[in-house]
Amino acid sequence: MTILVTGGAGFIGSNFVHHWLASANEAVVNLDKLTYAGNLANLASLQNDARHVFVQGDIGDTTLLPQLLAQHQPRAVVHFAAESHVDRSIHGPMDFIQTNVVGTFQLLESVRAYWSALAAEQQTAFRFLHVSTDEVYGSLAPDAPAFAETHAYEPNSPYSASKAASDHLVRAWHHTYGLPVLTTNCSNNYGPYHFPEKLIPLVIHNALAGKPLPIYGDGMQVRDWLYVQDHCSAIQRVLQAGRLGETYNVGGWNEKPNIEVVRTLCSLLDELQPRADGQSYATQITYVKDRAGHDRRYAIDARKIEQELGWRPQETFETGLRKTVAWYLANADWVANVTSGQYRQWVGQQYGA
Ligand code: NAD
Ligand code: TYD
Repeated sequence: MTILVTGGAGFIGSNFVHHWLASANEAVVNLDKLTYAGNLANLASLQNDARHVFVQGDIGDTTLLPQLLAQHQPRAVVHFAAESHVDRSIHGPMDFIQTNVVGTFQLLESVRAYWSALAAEQQTAFRFLHVSTDEVYGSLAPDAPAFAETHAYEPNSPYSASKAASDHLVRAWHHTYGLPVLTTNCSNNYGPYHFPEKLIPLVIHNALAGKPLPIYGDGMQVRDWLYVQDHCSAIQRVLQAGRLGETYNVGGWNEKPNIEVVRTLCSLLDELQPRADGQSYATQITYVKDRAGHDRRYAIDARKIEQELGWRPQETFETGLRKTVAWYLANADWVANVTSGQYRQWVGQQYGA
């Protein structure tokens, strides 16, 4: 048996491939375009593992996809591939529409053609799992209840709008064509292999480099944070037992204002790798201009996946963040590798000199 993973050289996708091969003895075909966010170094330890087949390509390649599906006959597709950074979507939304909307449409069409031609038993067993985000629900007032699966879609950024569009396409391909789909909407992930354009790895990287730790606006925006391994186990569980056509919200019951996240990171770094001058990394905190259209609060009500599928996160924020900081300290080469070249251009564009 084989599954096809898209975007498996990115942050969550590569963690998922490792998690999958460690927990299920089933091959993975990993299709990834290797954009700036995709990195084969994330998969280096699988180089000699015959269960992992890497293919560089675009989810929207309507020649490659039918070939790949016919050759490997996957029993499921787990779709991670996307443009994923809100700030980049503000500077240049086109890539987000192309990959997240048009690309997902083209992938759905390739998968539908493959699935339609399967024998009845394989057709019934087949799954298309679409990995999405809580950002499709928009922003919550401070005292509003957390996002349940029934919450209206109110995306506010080009990124979240493109993900919302892809969620709607996946839903429609189920209702209209009967494609056996599942969708997960997860909160902010953190952990190993997280590209240092996102808050947590950016702060670790800048802190160690002696650079400012940029806090957008007043730093009181709230996110729910989930350790990436917990997201991977949730996806695996939904793939195994989720009800067809359903969506499952995934979260860590762990709402934190950004400034608190950054202060906690500074304390961990002060403990694990103190600054040479004895001062706290917190002295590097710098308030900067707010993000345009910045969502104030996200929070996930994860009762459905807990009650229906028995999934709960294993890590607390304290244990997960400590593991994450330790990983970045032990993997300075990985960070140096991904923060050269193109990355510098992005930092210059987003944060100025
Ligand atoms: P990422 O940006 O780290 O990785 C995306 C991967 O997709 C990269 O390897 C990239 O090369 C690949 N890719 C991009 N365009 C492609 C294309 N056209 N064809 C094939 N591959 C392509 O993203 P991530 O943080 O790992 O997120 C993975 C998925 O999870 C996304 O769909 C995202 O919306 C969703 N998600 C992310 C978070 C989070 O906190 N990071 C939370 C919830 C949901
Ligand atoms: P990010 O990691 O980009 O994830 P998302 O926008 O998908 O939630 O940002 C997390 C939060 O941190 C978000 O409220 C924006 C904020 N943020 C900063 O304050 N400074 C930064 O340099 C970055 C990248 C994010």
